[in-house]
Amino acid sequence: MYAVILTVVAAMLSGGLAGSDPPPHGDYAAMARYVVHNNDWGSLASISTHQPMKGKPFTNVFSVSDGPVENGTGVPYFFFSPLDVTVQDLMVNPNASFSMSEIESGYCTSMKWDAEDPRCAKIILSGKIVTVPQDEADFAKNALFSRHPIMADWIKMESHKFYFTKMEIEDVFVLDFFGGGNIVSPEDYFNVKP
Ligand SMILES: *[C@@H]1O[C@H](CO)[C@@H](O)[C@H](O)[C@H]1NC(C)=O
Ligand SMILES: *[C@@H]1O[C@H](CO)[C@@H](O)[C@H](O)[C@H]1NC(C)=O
Repeated sequence: MYAVILTVVAAMLSGGLAGSDPPPHGDYAAMARYVVHNNDWGSLASISTHQPMKGKPFTNVFSVSDGPVENGTGVPYFFFSPLDVTVQDLMVNPNASFSMSEIESGYCTSMKWDAEDPRCAKIILSGKIVTVPQDEADFAKNALFSRHPIMADWIKMESHKFYFTKMEIEDVFVLDFFGGGNIVSPEDYFNVKP
């Protein structure tokens, strides 16, 4: 009886946000898709256009979604306001990097891995931030609002002029074990079956 309860509790605790364990290290494309799908936020770097940081990389926290839970696409969608300094940078230069850590799911902590431990996967996407085309806007809205319900209130703040954007991924950098990082092509990244 106790054994059954303990097993159920252990399964609940180990599940974290993900509801499943991470893919094996070495499967870099699958690891990237796993972390991107299971993270609700990350750090987005732009080249600053604002003094006194002008010309320097500037990282700022953004909420993200690559699709509703259990239906990730690998495409990171964002909800931007032109009032945001990072958004203003990206209007001048759309080149950006977006970093996410597996620590957010609770898995690394459950393994007693520090955030900087190479086994605690770090994924850095780089590419260009673009406005979501009209025919994709409903998908972006559902992807973001299903995981960040407060955004339904933000969109009502008309002065903020929120709109949907995404990263067109050009490179995927994956560090998930000792021995250094690995580059995954966008093709391999998008070919992963979720
Ligand atoms: C996942 O997305 C596909 C389209 O990309 C859709 O056909 C399917 O119904 C979605 N599944 C869930 C569980 O939302
Ligand atoms: C953005 O990055 C590309 C390399 O990927 C570079 O060729 C281009 O000049 C950059 N754009 C700007 C505005 O700096």
